[in-house]
Amino acid sequence: MEKSASTLIFICIFLSTLFLFRCIKKQKRKSMHKAKLPPGSMGWPCIGETLQMYSMDPNKFFATKQKRYGEIFKTHILGCPCVMLASPEATKFVLVTHAHLFKPTYPKSKEKLIGPSALFFHQGDYHSSLRKLIQSSLSPNPNTMQKLVPDIETLAISALESWAAAGTVINTYHEMKKFVFDVGFLAIFGRLDDSYREKLKESYHIVDAGYNSFPTNIPGTAYQKALLARKRLSQILRQIICERKEKKILQKDLLGDLLNFQNEKGQNLTEDQISDNIIGVLFAAQDTTASVLTWILKYLHDNQNILEAVKAEQKAIYDANDGYKRPLTWAQIRNMPLTHRVILESLRMASIISFAFREAVVDVEYKGYLIPKGWKVMPLFRNIHHNPELFPGPQNFDPSRFEAAPKAYTFIPFGKGVHACPGNELAKLEMLILIHHLVTNFRWEVVGSQKGIQYGPFPVPQHGLPARFVKEQVNP
Ligand code: HEM
Repeated sequence: MEKSASTLIFICIFLSTLFLFRCIKKQKRKSMHKAKLPPGSMGWPCIGETLQMYSMDPNKFFATKQKRYGEIFKTHILGCPCVMLASPEATKFVLVTHAHLFKPTYPKSKEKLIGPSALFFHQGDYHSSLRKLIQSSLSPNPNTMQKLVPDIETLAISALESWAAAGTVINTYHEMKKFVFDVGFLAIFGRLDDSYREKLKESYHIVDAGYNSFPTNIPGTAYQKALLARKRLSQILRQIICERKEKKILQKDLLGDLLNFQNEKGQNLTEDQISDNIIGVLFAAQDTTASVLTWILKYLHDNQNILEAVKAEQKAIYDANDGYKRPLTWAQIRNMPLTHRVILESLRMASIISFAFREAVVDVEYKGYLIPKGWKVMPLFRNIHHNPELFPGPQNFDPSRFEAAPKAYTFIPFGKGVHACPGNELAKLEMLILIHHLVTNFRWEVVGSQKGIQYGPFPVPQHGLPARFVKEQVNP
């Protein structure tokens, strides 16, 4: 009797708790439906405001909207309804604290070229274990990045020498892309047989050329050529993987780490997963780092007093190494405070990744506004980096603003949260090394109009910053 009474009480408690939960859920759904869409305009049917965005530059488009509607606004671009968020708080909400409510989203045409198993298309266990692997392979410790320093120096010197030897005006951005590509190769393959290197380069360049072209099935177009080249890339990578496996070559580089990877069930990665991630890393590394390097050269050229101070900092290291008799040490690279601040300020000013791209996986309420399921959500990094309340005089190139650490979520050139850039240390390392050799041994003149920005899709100075490089005799 006692037993059945307690069972009854238990059932009553269980049912009332269930009822309470359902009420709360219903209430939440009700309040979500009460939440209104953010302010903003959706433009024309289908095309939305895509034409407006491209008729001015996209950054101006977002800045004008923010001025008019505030830090959260809606629009419709590239066939998708979007909510744009331009505050540090909202960035934290989307990328960190509520990241599970938003998934990364990329056009299918791009996913096909990079490969569907590349980590940036994923969420969850597969993503987090791969990310851990890539981050640790590219981390600044003695067995990984630190041992790349002498080889990156060699690549930097050889690039600079070739620009000076050309004796003509070069497209700085194109040349930076070649340098960054070679550093990426080094981090991924260590030392790679020349025949593989040339074959990979040839196919990669065709994929790169078609990446931003119009995706179509018409044979002969840049996009179709890129798809074919992508297939060849997979085949070459498969040969390299087979050779390493057959010869039991154990190399400590990203490919070696991908080959050794085992998940918690003891499974290795497939060859497709390895290829997609290698190509993904090359893509993520190249245009980004090359455009920031190009901007650094422009900002230093336009701010001669800062350039002189950077030269003085680097000359002290040059002297300590007896000219170039000794290679740069890790301690020296870690102690270039002004050069490091120049890099941070260039990342802020150029904000080459203007925003992150996510999609709401459920209806989300943020600050009383509804972000409907399926809508794109874009935290606007550039707007935050150029907000005068966060960075006074945002149009001035002023590395000294980084003497104090920026407030949380106000400086996010490498993103935040689970998808934040795992290559940021490598990117900064190659910039520091290139700047050291550039300012201690070369000078450069920018040729032609020094104004204007082009998008491809990242912003770069007009015409890739045409410049002439001259080798200088360093004062003893
Ligand atoms: C200045 C140069 C670079 C900038 C500004 C940059 C910026 C970023 C940003 C903002 C993200 C996050 C995107 C998002 O949240 O949707 C990202 C992701 C990523 N970056 Fe970089 N990046 C740079 C260089 C590199 C380099 C050198 C590598 C590799 C060697 C790299 C590899 C990656 C990868 C693999 C991801 C995807 C991470 C994930 O989805 O978990 N990046 N990068």
